[in-house]
Amino acid sequence: MPIQTRVRSAGGSVSQVATDLGAEVVAVPVRSGPVAPAAEIAGALPFTLDELLTLNRAKGEPGEIVSSPVRVGDRVRELLLYGVGEATPADLRKAGAALARRGKGRSGLVAGVPAGDLAAFVEGALLASYQFKIGAAPAKPALDVLTVLTEAGPESDAGAVRRGTVRAQATALARDLANTPAGEKGPSWLADRAAGLADGAGLTVRVRGEEELADGGFGGLLAVGAGSSRPPRLIELSYEPSGGGSGRHVVLVGKGITFDSGGLSLKPNEGMKTMKTDMAGGGVVIAVMSALRELGVRDRVTGLVAAAENMPSGSSMRPGDVITHFGGTTSEVLNTDAEGRLVLADALAYADAELDPDVVVDVATLTGAAKVALGLRYGALFANDDALSGALSGAGAEAGEPLWRLPLVEEYRAAIDSDVADVNNIGRGGYGGGSITAALFLREFVGDRAWAHLDIAGPGRSTSDDAEITRGATGFGARLLLSWLADADADADSADGGTA
Ligand code: BES
Ligand code: MN
Ligand code: ZN
Repeated sequence: MPIQTRVRSAGGSVSQVATDLGAEVVAVPVRSGPVAPAAEIAGALPFTLDELLTLNRAKGEPGEIVSSPVRVGDRVRELLLYGVGEATPADLRKAGAALARRGKGRSGLVAGVPAGDLAAFVEGALLASYQFKIGAAPAKPALDVLTVLTEAGPESDAGAVRRGTVRAQATALARDLANTPAGEKGPSWLADRAAGLADGAGLTVRVRGEEELADGGFGGLLAVGAGSSRPPRLIELSYEPSGGGSGRHVVLVGKGITFDSGGLSLKPNEGMKTMKTDMAGGGVVIAVMSALRELGVRDRVTGLVAAAENMPSGSSMRPGDVITHFGGTTSEVLNTDAEGRLVLADALAYADAELDPDVVVDVATLTGAAKVALGLRYGALFANDDALSGALSGAGAEAGEPLWRLPLVEEYRAAIDSDVADVNNIGRGGYGGGSITAALFLREFVGDRAWAHLDIAGPGRSTSDDAEITRGATGFGARLLLSWLADADADADSADGGTA
């Protein structure tokens, strides 16, 4: 379900625009000094804005909203005084989200916006408006039109509105893909969605089905998908920058487990009921790919989604089975529920052997251990390259999708030794550190490439609405990867062409 809210920019004063558009709600930022297009609203009140704020104990913090009726033009409207803090990008994202939530059920809201990152404001507003409901309409429809006014004016605002909208729509796509129930969503469904958007997004697509996977030696995907009546797919989306590219080739790899029952190592229902979102990493890769052209990214980017359904049946892989991955590395399956690393192994080995990438980044809801370690808001970052790690951490902080780096502990490498194969798929031997041993497993397949692994098992879904995050799938990773790719772009001339 796309975001219903539309964002426009306009020029003039808030009162005048609200009157012209018939907007029911007008919004004025507080705490950053008066914003010219909104300052005149104060004159329409029988008290000062400060008096109103004091009465409500409001401090102008982002997310805070104080409301009052106000006569503007021909009628009484709702005035929202909304806190913007120091008007940092994070503040504006949060402020935009709070306004959009407050505007639910309304047809038009006109907001004066202080100088700063307007794209972040728009992104926050649109993402907070995201809704996913099958059948019945949501209890309250999203705000219909949000009109933003800044001192800079609509011409100079247009780019930021577009950028914020593209980033929010990409995140909404990632949320939609992950929120779709697994009954509807198998590997071929996911491949069809990717293929369906390729043309419009200026991408080429190749989908490998069972036969090609078998011919190519993608043993991990085939083994994980073997128990399902819906066979696996390897989705490959390719983006070539138009005009002068940076010369850098980035490969993004996503875990696309459309449902993770655990397989024969079956999960209890409590752990299984959210596992339609186990393709969140793959959804993020598809979403990022869909936005590259519109954001003018100058890297060449290939997106790989390893899609399979992990199910128990008479044809399932078994504990004790040995799989031969793409490229020949073998792994012993000690637990069929550690399936993500098995499908990612094929895609990573394929990227290393066939795509000649400068950088590989994988995104996966890989381990419950990462969720235990970092909770629901931070993604776990592993990397074999400090510059890449720094660039991704920086992009995460900027995008409001924070990462925390965890170590690839060499002493734990023995945990993935196997008696009968090159590696085993669970950390054995009491080393603990489940997300670390999973990352060490993946590292076996990346060759000498600069590589980072994002374990988003925690932040990939949320149990509550929170600022721009909505309950359910969050799309975590899409905005940080887009920031990383778009920023790398801005520095492309000064960068070493590598990972800075
Ligand atoms: N998809 C799960 C990880 C997961 C758990 C994601 C909770 C989101 C929320 C993954 O496939 C899995 O089952 N991992 C196991 C690995 C274990 C068997 C070595 C885990 O983390 O328990
Ligand atoms: Mn699993
Ligand atoms: Zn899984």
